[in-house]
Amino acid sequence: MKIATTVSEIPRRSEKRRVLVPTMGALHAGHISLVRQARASAASDGEVAVSIFVNPLQFEPGADFSRYPRPEGADEEICRAEGVDLIFRPAPNEMYLENRSTFVEETSLSERLCGAARPGHFRGVTTVVTKLFHLLAPDAAVFGEKDFQQLAIVRRMVRDLDFPIEILAGPTVREADGLALSSRNQYLNPEERAQAPVIRAALLQAAASKEKSAAKILAAVRAKIGSASLTRIDYAEVVGADDLQPRLTIAARSLLAVAVFFGRTRLIDNIQLG
Ligand code: PAF
Repeated sequence: MKIATTVSEIPRRSEKRRVLVPTMGALHAGHISLVRQARASAASDGEVAVSIFVNPLQFEPGADFSRYPRPEGADEEICRAEGVDLIFRPAPNEMYLENRSTFVEETSLSERLCGAARPGHFRGVTTVVTKLFHLLAPDAAVFGEKDFQQLAIVRRMVRDLDFPIEILAGPTVREADGLALSSRNQYLNPEERAQAPVIRAALLQAAASKEKSAAKILAAVRAKIGSASLTRIDYAEVVGADDLQPRLTIAARSLLAVAVFFGRTRLIDNIQLG
């Protein structure tokens, strides 16, 4: 396994299929499932590349950039065990010059949901993903469905800017009690962790109901999540899975998406309805 920490150390592309899993490290079973998907897509003679970069551009000022976990040794072990061919783990000054003044911005899907609560976040994501795509030149890249808005924005960017890169979606991986895996789960204290599965429970309840009115579904979701004393709902919305616009009634490819705070920790999850 090659570890490149500078751009000049990235091995030149061969004819082999290269599949990229972009991450911010602190790898968990959710990332491992994306890496395995990448391996299946690359096939045994292709290359799997994992980028590990805690991207300062996608953290709002005062957010958790400095406390974001960076367990380099453990990440390396996981990648080695999974048969990853290349880790690209640059330092921030390798990725961004001090006087940088160019960004990549998607201007429609990025405005709502997580984008409304985290101004500039998706501009940071699209900028770093563009750079990773240029530097590593993958044939395909895998993104998790838990971050459904990020996935939709990356797909839109790839379409709009003609990146010759296939975007693959990886299913959300969950704890036994339903909590979606996230590097941020480790910020939860024991009481918050005990209450966090209420998010998945609310989504499952909504998906199981025969209700077609988005307003009624959202009222039930808010009541269920609100019944856990430590929760604060950031948003709960029914949107179209591709355009992320609000839906009044449930139809094919409707998505119920929520973001919920436990203290300073914000968790997101979603479920397909219809
Ligand atoms: O999903 C993430 O971990 C990040 O947003 C990504 C795609 C690696 C960009 O920094």
